[in-house]
Amino acid sequence: MNIDKTVDKGATGGVFSPTAIVLRGDGEPLDNAAYIEKLSSLSRRSPIAQDNYSLGGSVAELEESMARMLGKESAVFMPTGTLANHIAVRKLCQGYSRVIVQEQGHLYRDSGDTIQQLSGINLVPLGVGSPCFTYREVQRAIEDSLSGRVPTQIGALVIESPVRRCHGQIMPFKEMQRITQLCRENSIGTHLDGARLFMMSAASGINPEEYSSLFDTVYVSMWKYFGSPFGAILAGTNECCENLYKQRRMFGGGLPSASMAAALALEGSKSFQKQFDDAMKRGVELLSRLSEIPEVQWEPYPNGSNIFPVSFSRKVDINALSGALEKRGIFINHETDGINRIHVTVNVTLLRKSVDQILHDFSKALEESVASS
Ligand SMILES: Cc1ncc(COP(=O)(O)O)c(C=O)c1O
Repeated sequence: MNIDKTVDKGATGGVFSPTAIVLRGDGEPLDNAAYIEKLSSLSRRSPIAQDNYSLGGSVAELEESMARMLGKESAVFMPTGTLANHIAVRKLCQGYSRVIVQEQGHLYRDSGDTIQQLSGINLVPLGVGSPCFTYREVQRAIEDSLSGRVPTQIGALVIESPVRRCHGQIMPFKEMQRITQLCRENSIGTHLDGARLFMMSAASGINPEEYSSLFDTVYVSMWKYFGSPFGAILAGTNECCENLYKQRRMFGGGLPSASMAAALALEGSKSFQKQFDDAMKRGVELLSRLSEIPEVQWEPYPNGSNIFPVSFSRKVDINALSGALEKRGIFINHETDGINRIHVTVNVTLLRKSVDQILHDFSKALEESVASS
């Protein structure tokens, strides 16, 4: 079987030593052995409460904890974020057949038209080529939809933020407030694809609960950075979440023994925010000090989160740089966009070594790769 090289490797996709600094992906990269190790250490400390087809046990504990963290009445465990988004949209549309999404978003670009194919709901993509759509674009789309030969109500609007395809750029909070308010005035349900919501919060200083309060429903990934091998949480009101597990099962997502994944996510979610805040501070310090090297420039993206472009004023062989860094236990994303730069993703692996040490290793690797280019 061919493996699609474009897939988001996220928390998985490689075997790394526990001291490796992996400046790609949002979380600590874990292989099967690491998951097993974490799971057995967890169950030695306290038994993992068994679920029944994703109902009860540690799945229910995770649901309650995430609902609290997101300031929502209720939350439901989903096997994937793809299904969490799908079920949220179906629920919010209440029979209406149109949903506004970002043209660069996961739902539109990376879900194989699941919503159109399986639920007969059409996606209306806005904000072509840019991380986000604007208030004005949404206003126009609502008006256009209602003024067609067959006036058609928009059922729901989804905002993905940070936007994975746009180097983690986020929609500014004020714009989210205005757009979700416009939706409320027009009886349009709102959903946040907050796969990386906790990253957005660390970058903006606005806590997850504040973001979540703007939306009817919110999805957060459990595997990208909470340490679970898979899973997602979909949160909303009691009324919205009641019986959603039946839809989960209808789509083939009522996993038996989901409690192992849920227990890992619950554990990871407790310590994540503090650790990630520390990692972001360390990342910014590292990048600022890196740019003291004359040929290195660093500038954050406008409305960026945890992904930073680092460019070089002299020609650097990025593959050679990547190889020289790997020898020193530092892993970067060596795919380039044809420009003489790399993208550094900040995650908790940055906490494994001091800034001085990483800086020293980076400078040496850079010297080698400039010399070899
Ligand atoms: C923004 C966003 N939404 C949804 C998903 C889907 O999550 P899952 O892979 O758990 O289905 C992803 C996964 O890459 C994502 O990046």
